[in-house]
Amino acid sequence: MNGTAALRETADAALTTKSRDGATMKAIAVIPGQAGSVHVREVRRPNAAEVPGGRGVLVQVLRVGVDGTDKEINAAEYGTAPEGDEFLVLGHESLGRVVEVGPAVTELAPGDYVVATVRRPGTSLYDMIGLADMTTDDVYFERGISLRHGFLSEYFVESADHLVVVPPRQREIGVLLEPLTVVEKGIAQAYEIQRRLKVWKPRRAAVIGAGTVGLLATLTLRLRGLEVTTFALRRKPYLNSDLIEALGARYVSVEEQSILDAAAASGPFDLILEASGYSPAAFEAMQALSKNGVLVLASVTGGNRRVEVPADRINLDFVLGNRVMVGTVNASQEHFEMGVKDLAQAEALYPGWLGRLLTDRVRGLDHVEELFARLNSPAGAIKVFCDVSEDAMDMHGEPVRFTCDACGGRFGSVAALEGHGCVHGMPA
Ligand code: BGC
Ligand code: ZN
Repeated sequence: MNGTAALRETADAALTTKSRDGATMKAIAVIPGQAGSVHVREVRRPNAAEVPGGRGVLVQVLRVGVDGTDKEINAAEYGTAPEGDEFLVLGHESLGRVVEVGPAVTELAPGDYVVATVRRPGTSLYDMIGLADMTTDDVYFERGISLRHGFLSEYFVESADHLVVVPPRQREIGVLLEPLTVVEKGIAQAYEIQRRLKVWKPRRAAVIGAGTVGLLATLTLRLRGLEVTTFALRRKPYLNSDLIEALGARYVSVEEQSILDAAAASGPFDLILEASGYSPAAFEAMQALSKNGVLVLASVTGGNRRVEVPADRINLDFVLGNRVMVGTVNASQEHFEMGVKDLAQAEALYPGWLGRLLTDRVRGLDHVEELFARLNSPAGAIKVFCDVSEDAMDMHGEPVRFTCDACGGRFGSVAALEGHGCVHGMPA
């Protein structure tokens, strides 16, 4: 496949041109390379028919989360516009509702809640087998990040191949699925690698960083039955440390105890996931790993920081202890599906916990300044998100008028609300 064919393969091509029906929509975009350029603009509203083979799906966007990547793109440190446009529509953490499906889509129907994966296939062998997250191409395609428009718009069009269904009861928290998949992939990679050991049974895990990814990593490891210590800068108590402790994990401020001191005091860790965004922490983590242990690196660090490390010691311990270190980025379809299951299990074991991560809501695409101001606020915010629109209809095509307090499900009538399975305000 040549480069142009690859660029044309998905539907989210240029949005500058007019569509046949002249329909437009609002979107939040940046001019890549121009710092602070985030703005609201009117763009072409795409059509399901633009996806080849009748596989197109038109999705109404309900909710989109923003994170450090969006911040870096708006700071012009990152991000590339799709071919044919000078702007890039932001947003890679999506939750939407199917409005229309192409004739060859059988797995999705209007009304389904969906989350889109982020990366789109390039040309390497990995891209061809559905593992674009493992691409060896230098140029990669990520919606809302690199060469593909994102989801911070009223609608988007996507191939059914890149959409994952979430149950209606994940309506409120489904926007956390994409950040969760980064964790799902990292942990799945660790377990996959550790099959080399035949009998590996990790007991003690450490997570470095207590932002959205660190919190979700702590959750996922707790769901897998590990004893977890989560390290971050700030001293407890604050919301993030409360959330860590609510999972039965231990929260440690590195101002009180470094990961190295913790390993010396209570023993090294079988699995460490580094998500602090501070690269020197990775080198410290290398020295806190148990024999046969695995260290997963997940921080995207764009800077140029240098540190001095005990190179001989680290190298020797890795060799003599058969230790492993692996980097991880993005996620594949499989990790989105695992994430949906973990969201459900999390709601069952720690009811309401995921909802507490949704700290900063901005209503509508027009409040772009507020959205980015919250993202830049020094402390306090965990997940900043934009409620792009309300559900227009319920499962039966009725206009939405009632919301279930227990599961967030939206219904057109009292009968539909009462009949959907939650009992006495408790999710069934
Ligand atoms: C996204 C990933 C993406 C990565 C690098 C993260 O914010 O969640 O999906 O691969 O940025 O662009
Ligand atoms: Zn309910």
